Amino acid sequence: MNKLYVVMVGLPARGKSTMARRIREGLEAEDFRVEVFNNGEIRRSMLGMDSAEPEFYDPDNAEGRARREEIARLNIAAARDYLAGDGHVAILDATNASRARRATIEAMLTDHPLLFVECVNDDPVALGAAIRRKTQMPEFARDTTQAAMESFTKRIHYYERMYAPCADESCWVRVDTLENRVVGEQIGGRVPYYHRIRDILVSAWVRNLYLVRHGETYYNVEGRIGGDSDLTLRGQAQAKELAAYFAGTEVPYIFTSTRKRSAQTAAPMREARPEATVMALPEFDEIDAGECESLRYDDIRRRFPDAFAARQRDKFHYVYPGGEGYVTLRERVERGVRRALFLAGGAPGVMIIGHQAINRMILSHFLYRRTEDVPYIFIPQTQFYHIVATQRKKLFELVRFM
Ligand code: F6P
Repeated sequence: MNKLYVVMVGLPARGKSTMARRIREGLEAEDFRVEVFNNGEIRRSMLGMDSAEPEFYDPDNAEGRARREEIARLNIAAARDYLAGDGHVAILDATNASRARRATIEAMLTDHPLLFVECVNDDPVALGAAIRRKTQMPEFARDTTQAAMESFTKRIHYYERMYAPCADESCWVRVDTLENRVVGEQIGGRVPYYHRIRDILVSAWVRNLYLVRHGETYYNVEGRIGGDSDLTLRGQAQAKELAAYFAGTEVPYIFTSTRKRSAQTAAPMREARPEATVMALPEFDEIDAGECESLRYDDIRRRFPDAFAARQRDKFHYVYPGGEGYVTLRERVERGVRRALFLAGGAPGVMIIGHQAINRMILSHFLYRRTEDVPYIFIPQTQFYHIVATQRKKLFELVRFM
């Protein structure tokens, strides 16, 4: 039977552990035996709070270096034992940032092929939120969020000093974990399972995405577009029904736009799950109708007849004067989806509470539609789209919640 070591590489908070989990799950689904060996877990159990200070990671701190080396060697040996037994793929999950560390791994693991999987991602928003999430690690329990973020950022700076991207290793692949895109690879030998793994790296990984539109607003009732209006009583009731429907469903991540109607729709959901991460992303703000903001479609037809006609002729490519069009929305909505899914890191459930035009664009990200049909996708306020997209499964369902 073919055996393989997969060695994760990358600075902290770049999505290595999520990717390691995806590789494990993807291969397990094919009935291979896979185990992840995580250095951080051993470090925490061996050293606990003694490894919380950023100076522990200072490359000039000889003692810290020795302890980290010891932990790495323990894990390398455990991975070797695993493959010597009945394991098929052992994944070493650690930064493995320096060339020297990777040379140690190459020297210790000579019995089976090695594939280095380097994770990169420099998106400032994704990185900032990933660092914030790290502050929940047990070693920061005594710190304020601010202090923990500073400490973790300092830790990253120490790693940056020793980081050398993969180059000399014989088999490596570099993946942008925000875009799920391979941005470099060198396969200089036989790597079992490589095509399977490469496909896992670039596949969408959304266990359950619940795409919801905000509840009814005063503007909706008046037929006005855009703006930042509040939910009506009916809209508030819809938000409550939504939360009631999801009681008992895991939704640890909820993304909204920065608009009141989106946040107000999320309110009962977040009350029911105080531990959930709720984040407003401006990428999910409704299409900006520029000079037509707050008008009714009838007002637009009367005041801007040419614009109205032009939009009817080609709704997808039409751009509002001083505002946006579906064609210009795509980039920011895609960025929002990438950021949200990176932050959710393969969580069991992610909810996005968006808007009519925004949800159409999000749907078209997962579901092929001709561009001319995208601006007409049905986006109701009492039903949501449930989307599952992994390497092995694509599911798409419109579900009524009230
Ligand atoms: O009417 C609600 C709304 O969300 C507006 O704010 C937005 O301009 C519009 O829907 C988008 O839908 P359409 O592209 O069909 O006008």
